[in-house]
Amino acid sequence: MGLTPVHFFSHGSTMMLGEESESADYWKKCGDEALARNIKGVVIMGAHWDCLGDRIELSTNPNPGKSPVAYVNPEKYVNYELNPDLETTDRCIEMLAKEGFNVGGNPKFDWIHDVYLILIRMFPNGCPPTTLISANARYDPHFHMKMGATLRPLRKENYLIIGTGGAVHNLYRNRWAPMLRFRDNFAMETPPEDWAMEFRQAVEDVITKTSGVQLRRAMTRLMKHPRFRDAHATDDHFMAALFVAGAAGDVEDENTPAVLGAESWELTNMCNSQFTLGQWSREIAV
Ligand SMILES: [Fe+2]
Repeated sequence: MGLTPVHFFSHGSTMMLGEESESADYWKKCGDEALARNIKGVVIMGAHWDCLGDRIELSTNPNPGKSPVAYVNPEKYVNYELNPDLETTDRCIEMLAKEGFNVGGNPKFDWIHDVYLILIRMFPNGCPPTTLISANARYDPHFHMKMGATLRPLRKENYLIIGTGGAVHNLYRNRWAPMLRFRDNFAMETPPEDWAMEFRQAVEDVITKTSGVQLRRAMTRLMKHPRFRDAHATDDHFMAALFVAGAAGDVEDENTPAVLGAESWELTNMCNSQFTLGQWSREIAV
């Protein structure tokens, strides 16, 4: 068996759960492709769970609740059953501890929309066994890359690794009025601003034009891009991209293709780019 692909998904606003979009179609397509290959499970890092100090945690909650979201009909998510994979979670904790991470389980954590939005959209008919990993609130790119690199071997065992964050995600610079007044998250009264366009392009270039260890270097360097702070007022939504670069940026990954599968601009300046790094080793009609 070859290596499974790795996804970096930009989950955008909460309305991405309830509204149709090209991104939502792509998430479903990626889910269908994964199910057709009988994946063993999903290993996912989001953007909304960060541990303090040098700590990272994995959810060991056997029955996680879902944090409620605004601007979405509860019917779209309340009855969806999450499927925590406690066995793989324990294994991931061991793998990370062996690499020196200060890591442990969290039996009380309720899952947040950054993660369940993606799971619902990818797997509307049932959630595969899922391992949920926190980020770390120091937001060190190399640290998160190493987390991804540590768990990379799971790709050889038919696990699907996903990072969910954002390509351009600055809540302070979004134009919220059409969403707040008319529930229109895709309204675009003006084009996106130049800093958003520039950083979005930089992310696409790094992911689709580099591979292997060069991908890792380029992805960390994006946090020094002149437009990074405009595109990300806080670092939290970029950590999953580093995690993905760790999982998909080994020497063994050199020259593997990566694609921008879909993209949805929301709130004028938030760019929800959806990327897949690597590919399934055999074609199956889905
Ligand atoms: Fe988010």
